[in-house]
Amino acid sequence: MKHPFSSYRKLFPILENTVQLSSCSQSALSLPVRQAIDDYLDTWLRRGHDWGYWMEQVALARAEFARMIHASADDIAVLGSVSDAASAIASALRFDPDRPEIVTTTLDFPSICHVWLAQQPRGAQTRFVTAQAGGTDTSERVEAAVDGRTALVSVSHACFYDGQIVDIGATGRAARRHGALQFVDAYQSAGSVAIDVRAQDVDILASGAQKYLLGIPGIAFLYVRPELARKLVPTVTGWIGSVNPFAFNPAQLDFADGAARFNTGTPPMVCASAARASMALLNEVGVPAIEDWLGQLSAVAIEEAKRLRLGVASPTAPGAKGANTAIRIANAADIEARMRDAGYVVSARNDVIRVAPHFYNDADDVVGCLRELARLTR
Ligand SMILES: Cc1ncc(COP(=O)(O)O)c(C=O)c1O
Repeated sequence: MKHPFSSYRKLFPILENTVQLSSCSQSALSLPVRQAIDDYLDTWLRRGHDWGYWMEQVALARAEFARMIHASADDIAVLGSVSDAASAIASALRFDPDRPEIVTTTLDFPSICHVWLAQQPRGAQTRFVTAQAGGTDTSERVEAAVDGRTALVSVSHACFYDGQIVDIGATGRAARRHGALQFVDAYQSAGSVAIDVRAQDVDILASGAQKYLLGIPGIAFLYVRPELARKLVPTVTGWIGSVNPFAFNPAQLDFADGAARFNTGTPPMVCASAARASMALLNEVGVPAIEDWLGQLSAVAIEEAKRLRLGVASPTAPGAKGANTAIRIANAADIEARMRDAGYVVSARNDVIRVAPHFYNDADDVVGCLRELARLTR
């Protein structure tokens, strides 16, 4: 099976001696990202500070994220985490007694669910749709749960646990049909699954940089549909969210037009430098081509796991999951440590080991990893 991106492997030095398959948690460090972080440190060391250059990195990172999801850079806010992005959105919502519900699923990432649960004193009621690990009907279940009492539908595009994909177009249409909004948590999809916020009619979407975006933690990107952003008034804010942050007028609060109103304080500049470099690389390679390759690696993983009689917690139908293939392992944290000693970086969650390749991985990486997993668990 020919690896279409083998020429890029040299940009990821760790691959010389380690098989990194942990993109659901932290992807491999690339040379351009290291260079971007070095550049930040260098400007700090040599110039004392370089606000102009650092803010330019933030603007370029926004532009790369926008390009990746087919949005305009003006539709993107920059925050510190996906949880912060969800909180910023929650702060702008009202939960009236006749429309109090936030519909999410039992397989959404806890942090985001906790943000919704924290809105209870403001009148919100969080409704959990049961999602099955390995299931392929989560989108339908969410659609069925949405009604005139729904204020917000919140779904993971790809699930952190088993990688299952939710049809965000379908859940978004259900939300809109009932006068609700949709929040898409794209932390496990952006960079590995193609996203087109216009074609998929997305209201709000957030992702951080650490996973399939090949960056580091400390930064998240929040897309808000422009017509919607203008109507939302956040109650979590800061000077970078105002029309002119450099007016320095403490008595005037005027929100920037569009998504920029969700910015808060000084952006995470070093994280933005890293994210600018990593997303430029991903955009050069092209996420649709990456998605296609990761689909092929998923098929390899599922077939090999079956052959080795490993339990697969992820959906096995083509296209039903993202890059992550979750293997059921009782003592997953212990096995993750032993896999690292054997040269494989994977990621444990509760009772699964997540094998999560990116475009720089090949079929030998995936097969070798599963064979080692089988060996360690026999
Ligand atoms: C799907 C998903 N959403 C949200 C988060 C949390 O993101 P953050 O720590 O940036 O708030 C994670 C972290 O693993 C995740 O996998």
